[in-house]
Amino acid sequence: MDDPRPDARQRWSAGTYDAHARFVSDLGGGAVEWLAPRPGERILDVGCGDGVLTAEIAAAGAQVVGVDSSGDFIAAAAARGLDARLMDGQSLAFGPDFDAVFSNAALHWMTDAAAVVSGIARALKAGGRFVAEFGGHGNVAAIVTAMRAVGRRRGGDIALAHPWYFPTVEDYGALLEACGLAVRRIVLFPRPVVLRTGMAEWLMLFRKPFFQQFENQAEEALAEVMDLLRPSLCDAHGNWTADYVRLRVEAVKP
Ligand code: BEZ
Repeated sequence: MDDPRPDARQRWSAGTYDAHARFVSDLGGGAVEWLAPRPGERILDVGCGDGVLTAEIAAAGAQVVGVDSSGDFIAAAAARGLDARLMDGQSLAFGPDFDAVFSNAALHWMTDAAAVVSGIARALKAGGRFVAEFGGHGNVAAIVTAMRAVGRRRGGDIALAHPWYFPTVEDYGALLEACGLAVRRIVLFPRPVVLRTGMAEWLMLFRKPFFQQFENQAEEALAEVMDLLRPSLCDAHGNWTADYVRLRVEAVKP
């Protein structure tokens, strides 16, 4: 039987992402600094998206393989001349081939975190390092709370307001250790991000399935979410900020 729920899957378009979310890779510089790629290293980029940061790592002289579950992103990354492969980060199919595994702003989309981390541990050579940055506990909390309030009032599926994995330092550290990786450093920090193209565009890019469930009232639901958020996330000049919180980590395979 067909599942009657609205399609909850996130779909990516490299063009839309470039227009509304380029800040995601622009802000990935700190994670690349932690990675400190060296010439000749083999590096796996999990959730490489359209390959902007993958190309930066390759420019340091590393041999990089990028994987992503979006065909549109993989086509965009391959068009940059990268070795980009269609693969779900929750079922990584690599043996211990890599000096490092890297990921920026992708792991929060992969809710089977244990499968992700065990695949990463398998892909690392002994002594190899894992460096990642993604949404941590409390990420986009105001935005999620506003969507949940509107979803509840309208009798919608509020699970569609929060499809992500945003762990605490303690929980992620414990998961890494359970998968055989030793944590070198791990931090959770707020990173408010000014949304150059606005909150409505952010919501429709990242949470379209939540709004689509309201069918011909999607616009009204969107306006209600924006009204709830305006006092805390929009300044007097109409500039919107997203309440991002990042978790950045480095761990090694002994
Ligand atoms: C993030 O990068 O933290 C993020 C992106 C999209 C939705 C939620 C969080």
